Amino acid sequence: MMKKVTLTLACLMFASLVSAAGGAYIGEPANTNIKSQSSLQKGAKTYMNYCLGCHSMEFQRYNRVAEDLGLTEDEMMESLVLTDAKFADKMTHTMTREQGEQWFGKAPPDLTVIAKARGVDWLYNYMINFYVDSSRPSGWNNLTFPNASMPHVLWELQGIRKANFETHTDDQGEDHKEFVGFETIEEGQLNEEEYKDMVRDLVNFLDYSAEPAQLIRMSYAPWVLLFVAVFTFLAYLLKVNYFRDVH
Ligand code: HEC
Repeated sequence: MMKKVTLTLACLMFASLVSAAGGAYIGEPANTNIKSQSSLQKGAKTYMNYCLGCHSMEFQRYNRVAEDLGLTEDEMMESLVLTDAKFADKMTHTMTREQGEQWFGKAPPDLTVIAKARGVDWLYNYMINFYVDSSRPSGWNNLTFPNASMPHVLWELQGIRKANFETHTDDQGEDHKEFVGFETIEEGQLNEEEYKDMVRDLVNFLDYSAEPAQLIRMSYAPWVLLFVAVFTFLAYLLKVNYFRDVH
């Protein structure tokens, strides 16, 4: 019985992973922790360093992020704001849509709420599954987001890898390419575990950004539960009291 339940649960979880991704390659879950402030701070730093140049966050302001992530104005301005932006400014960049299209073939989208659209598992896998592909204009391709026009901007950290595929012919005579594994061409500055941790923090920051209220809701949760418990207890006392004389 227990085994059956576990199996069904596992199938359901797998099915939701696959359907959330719309068939995209999701090798492993992101396992982010929105409650970890240090993870969010590290993720924000990576975002400012490696992503903001191309991807604005129109609906975020530096001061709001600092407040939510427990950073002082000085800490924010000194280590996270790399442009001449002011503390109360929106997190934008100077690239126009036209320039983006001209340079990359596609304008890099705003990422404020990308975690809502794609989900954390997709984002995590997107950032860890780049590989070199000389047939693409940028020289890079991606298992999770095939033929994306974004280059692998974190390649110095992750290193350079190529992907190996095997071709199978099915009963109808159609060829299918199956991914069989990555091969390292050049080591990066981080080892695999360090790189994945860094991406996890980055994705955690994107998740926070898509819904900053998550942090507040989290801190209310224990109080709501306590309230419900106290209220239930009071209701029970009342019931005992009302029905005392009813037989
Ligand atoms: C050099 C410019 C550049 C930088 C830097 C860059 N990107 Fe991108 N990114 C792009 C472009 C161009 C696209 C559009 C790709 C497409 O749709 O084919 C894109 C697409 C994306 C998407 C997919 C959006 C969608 O369509 O769902 C995500 C997510 C993303 N980038 C995340 C990041 C993150 C995180 C960083 C920082 C580590 C980053 N990008 C840095 C250029 C950039």
